[in-house]
Amino acid sequence: MALQGKKTHELFQKALRYIPHGVNSNFRYWGNEDTLVITRGEGAYIWDADGKRYIDYRLAFGPIILGHAHPEVTRRVQQAIEGGTLFAWATPLEIQVAERICRMTGVDKVRLTNTGSEATFHALRIARAHTGREKFIKFEGQYHGQVDYFMFSTASANARMLGSRRSPIAAPATSGIPRGIQEYVISLPFNDFEAVERTVKAHWGEIAAIFVEPMLGNAAGILPREGFLEHLRRLCDEYGIVLIFDEVKTGFRIANGGAQEYFGVRADLVTYAKALGNGFPIAAIAGKEEVMMTIEPGAMAHGGTYSGNLVGVAAADATLEILEREPVIETIFTRGRALMDGIHEILTEQDIPHVVTGLPPMFSILLGSDKEPHDFRDYLQNDMDLYERISMELIRRGVQPDSDGREPWFLCYALSEEDVAETLNVFNDAVKAAKK
Ligand SMILES: Cc1ncc(COP(=O)(O)O)c(C=O)c1O
Repeated sequence: MALQGKKTHELFQKALRYIPHGVNSNFRYWGNEDTLVITRGEGAYIWDADGKRYIDYRLAFGPIILGHAHPEVTRRVQQAIEGGTLFAWATPLEIQVAERICRMTGVDKVRLTNTGSEATFHALRIARAHTGREKFIKFEGQYHGQVDYFMFSTASANARMLGSRRSPIAAPATSGIPRGIQEYVISLPFNDFEAVERTVKAHWGEIAAIFVEPMLGNAAGILPREGFLEHLRRLCDEYGIVLIFDEVKTGFRIANGGAQEYFGVRADLVTYAKALGNGFPIAAIAGKEEVMMTIEPGAMAHGGTYSGNLVGVAAADATLEILEREPVIETIFTRGRALMDGIHEILTEQDIPHVVTGLPPMFSILLGSDKEPHDFRDYLQNDMDLYERISMELIRRGVQPDSDGREPWFLCYALSEEDVAETLNVFNDAVKAAKK
């Protein structure tokens, strides 16, 4: 049975006429019968064009930390933009947001931008300018946005990783990337202490940065092994490499200070987006004074017409204030833990081997084995077909995680205990239906 109801289907047919594949981001295309058209969101729920309500665990791929259409955030954006949106000058509100980010995350300096991809791209440029080196290390299954340099061995596009674990090949995740770009990318398995050390010792003179999602936010939330992030920190210190945490998914979600606070390891540069604006477009490149001050007018470029625009800035100002004032993170940890435990119980009762990975604010479910995954190659061993069948049964019943198990279940502050209970009831039914 298709996910689209009648009205949704009609609207999507129209979308197909004017928009390639009917969507404005490839990740949103689920085929011509299952791609939804959403008309409204409020709190933990979204509604499609047929008026069907879903408890939303995709949360726009993570940004919605408080809940959809959070009244205070909406009001603050409305108020701010009545006085204009963009002036090509500094504004008091952007200064306040930078101050909040520094206080909450412990970074020294921040530059604002609009999307995660812009933030990661600039972070890489800063690291190259800072070190005078050109290559960088990234990890298999990690996604750092749409910039050519990062579109190698990502989770979403590569159904398998190329090369052996010991000697991986950075594989392009899309057509359209110049072949030469690959030379700058060193792709390694996450959590492999020896591989990173061997690579750094052999090539450190060419390596500008180690770029890492501190947990695999685009590959089932796989966690770093004990000491792995510290290991990266030590290698970067020893060999003059810039350690960059891509916290586009973990920032302001797993702690107010993000992964740096949660895992207790400090990076040189950090990128934020998503939860920073509760769904409004804003992102940031942040980090240590010495590295951030590589940016230099006329010499080391960072720019953007819309950087610091009042829409995103007002949203971030309100979102960060609420994060500091209210037990947002604590609440999503509690609710997420209840979901992880409940799902574990149901799958155990149903005799399905599984692991629930990640952290309560962003967790994932791997099926077919109870072995803890440590990298993306491990992830690829799990029963993705069964996961997709279960998730489609969930969505039909009004609970909406992504049907792709690589994408974590995200939680928002608006999600109630009743929503958790409803989700678990539906999960039980969905598993039974999917097994049939
Ligand atoms: C870890 C990470 N980095 C960067 C990006 C790119 O962000 P954006 O889609 O805002 O460009 C994403 C997007 O999902 C992400 O998950």
